[in-house]
Amino acid sequence: MKNEDIKKDNQNDDNNKNENNDLKTNDNPKVDKKKNYEAEILNFGKDYSDFDLNFKVVVIGNSGVGKTCITNRATKNEFIDKYVTTIGMEIFSLFIKLNKKILKLQLWDTCGQEVYRSLITSFYRNCSLAILVYSIDQKDSFQNLDLWIKELKLNNSPDTKLVLVGNKLDLENQREVSFEEGKKFSNDYGFIDFFETSAKTGENINKMFINIAIELYEEFLTYNDKISKTDFKKLRPQKVIVNKRRRKKCC
Ligand code: GTP
Repeated sequence: MKNEDIKKDNQNDDNNKNENNDLKTNDNPKVDKKKNYEAEILNFGKDYSDFDLNFKVVVIGNSGVGKTCITNRATKNEFIDKYVTTIGMEIFSLFIKLNKKILKLQLWDTCGQEVYRSLITSFYRNCSLAILVYSIDQKDSFQNLDLWIKELKLNNSPDTKLVLVGNKLDLENQREVSFEEGKKFSNDYGFIDFFETSAKTGENINKMFINIAIELYEEFLTYNDKISKTDFKKLRPQKVIVNKRRRKKCC
């Protein structure tokens, strides 16, 4: 866990003020035209409990790519300037209102350091979606994405939804991974979305999480719809077979 002083980035004070207001207005696109949702990031504390749906989302990627800063920016509108590596993981709560429903995204911010890899794989279990983060100014963080995907799929459903994020967009002049490379990778591996973000300026952070909330909500609606239309008994044997296979692998 991180205990360092959290410094708000002075250079971004204006940005931050806007974004604080944005928790109710601007940068928070009120209406996602693509999918016709009215979406709003809510400034609720982590103890808020009157939500409708809860989804577990893991945030993974190399050490130092900005996973903690992304989650801090989304949930507290803060930017941590000083780098202190995460030990294990930290859980953040992000509340998003979609039309009249309140969704809670439980964000599991994991540590990227090699030494803790075996520890964090247990955190992947039962996640609805994984955000894979690389830094646009660190080619190796992009080249390592393969490994993160493999590890994730070994420890959670192979069908886990994936979102790719190229962070540190503000470091354009130090860019080592082009937008096109990121986009191609996300298409080739079947990611549901790709964003370039800056936790420092806040660019695309809210947009990314709102899109994730919409994806998860739509999947929830589809699943519920299927259950109501299908004979539920027919689904149960399939579930049993999947579990048996998994157990065999472990032994
Ligand atoms: P681990 O906990 O070791 O896995 O690292 P992490 O991926 O959580 O990285 P963290 O969020 O701690 O950020 C690492 C460093 O990158 C810090 O010094 C941050 O200030 C910096 N940083 C994070 N996001 C950005 C960004 O968007 N732009 C810039 N310029 N720096 C960033």
